[in-house]
Amino acid sequence: MKDKIIVLNFGGQYDQLIVRRVRENGVYAELHDCDVDIEKLNLDGLKGIILTGGPQSVYDENSLKANDKIFDLNVPILGICYGMQYINKVYGGEIEHMQKGEYGKTPLFVDTNSKLFKDVPQESIVWMNHRDGVTKSAQGFKKIAWTLNCPVAAFENEQKNIYAVQFHPEVVHSEYGSQIITNFLKEICDVNMDWKMENVAEDMINEIKEKYDGEKMICALSGGVDSSVAANLVHKAIGDNLKCIFVNHGLLRKNEVEEVLAKYKEIGLNVKLVDASKEFLDLLKGVTDPEEKRKIIGNHFIKVFEREAKEIGGAKYLVQGTIYPDVIESGKDKASVIKSHHNVGGLPETMDFEGVVEPLRDLFKDEVRQLGLSIGMPEEMIWRQPFPGPGLGIRVVGDITEEKLKIVRETDYILREEFKNYGIDRDIWQYFTVFTPIRTVGVKGDERTYDYMVVIRAIISVDAMTVEAAELPYELLQKLSSRMINEVEGVGRVVYDITSKPPGTIEFE
Ligand code: XMP
Repeated sequence: MKDKIIVLNFGGQYDQLIVRRVRENGVYAELHDCDVDIEKLNLDGLKGIILTGGPQSVYDENSLKANDKIFDLNVPILGICYGMQYINKVYGGEIEHMQKGEYGKTPLFVDTNSKLFKDVPQESIVWMNHRDGVTKSAQGFKKIAWTLNCPVAAFENEQKNIYAVQFHPEVVHSEYGSQIITNFLKEICDVNMDWKMENVAEDMINEIKEKYDGEKMICALSGGVDSSVAANLVHKAIGDNLKCIFVNHGLLRKNEVEEVLAKYKEIGLNVKLVDASKEFLDLLKGVTDPEEKRKIIGNHFIKVFEREAKEIGGAKYLVQGTIYPDVIESGKDKASVIKSHHNVGGLPETMDFEGVVEPLRDLFKDEVRQLGLSIGMPEEMIWRQPFPGPGLGIRVVGDITEEKLKIVRETDYILREEFKNYGIDRDIWQYFTVFTPIRTVGVKGDERTYDYMVVIRAIISVDAMTVEAAELPYELLQKLSSRMINEVEGVGRVVYDITSKPPGTIEFE
């Protein structure tokens, strides 16, 4: 049984970051809403609880509350920002709206005798972001840090094993923040710090082997990192009882089918290629609305997959590459869906399986990558840039034809080739070309041309939520433009898109 830390989220902006920081210490952590029914969670191996910050005041009428059974579980608790104020309120202390807020880097003075501040100097810089603060600590709680404006910047109740800080140790601007988190885990929770990807992979494989021995499973591969790693793990556990399907919807990049299949062969996966490109392109004929295109592709994908699964027959389980951010996101209010993302994951609602196997559902993307590398998957597969489910279908603006797909495929290929030659293919988070139905006048030789405009998109991001256009060298842009216009028939103009996200999105449709 693995040790774990539960992080309860009070709506702060650093909730996932706290989980990351704990995991970086080799300790498994999971995130839940602050008011989750704690007794319904799997508490095996629970070694500590962290309460995050949040935007409210604890005295607000509808302020967020935890399920207070957490205080009876007999495990150490660390409160951060709102989490600290919440603990103080629960135990009868006082919190006030301070005259002056503290935002940003702030000098902190600590009582170095506290276990929480082991190896932290008496004075250091921390990141503050608050207006409310503890003015009177609850009974039994001892002040262990302060700043010039915040009389109680941290407190502890050693007997109850509760610790709290007003500042944000999870943020890199807190000089000794990571030491403080390590201290909480090591000195206070006494947790095993052996949650490493190699061990995780081994445990997962053994668990799947034990649980599903002799069962047949099926997996829709997309060529992407998540589904490939999930399938590879399951394959290591149940061997050829796993059957994989790779659907060519006719909207893939140049050479993609061959390249992806060769990689799957290299790692020994049993993959059936289904060429459904004609069906998809027929359904998409004349359709111009982006959402309608997405829906047609998503729905038909399910149909093709169902048909093929039936043909293979006998599979009781569906393997999916769902990862932790998908799990967290699906628990959130979906009111503002901007585009209906079609993932190869998220399929099974209408399908007749006994269960879904999602080995990666506790992992963040970079952890999935580490895990993939640790089980010997090829680098190109692990570092492949994201490619959306609807493929080139959302990179051809307006209706889709073979001619337009060819333009986007060929220009995209040149872009990938040149980024590789220039040595920047790993530094740019995502890059591709987009076909636009805008035609412009030009001259080639002595002839007038009236050809299409292609857009280059190259972006830098961490998580695709916020994005900046990459600052590409001018000589590279010139080379791209000249190669695309000279080598690809139908291209008359090339432009570089410098829109950030927000307000733009990464894809055009
Ligand atoms: P946007 O365009 O929303 O894209 O800024 C964010 C990231 O998601 C990818 N994307 C998709 N991925 N199914 C996917 O699996 C989709 O329907 C889809 N739409 C966009 C996009 O390539 C970018 O990485």
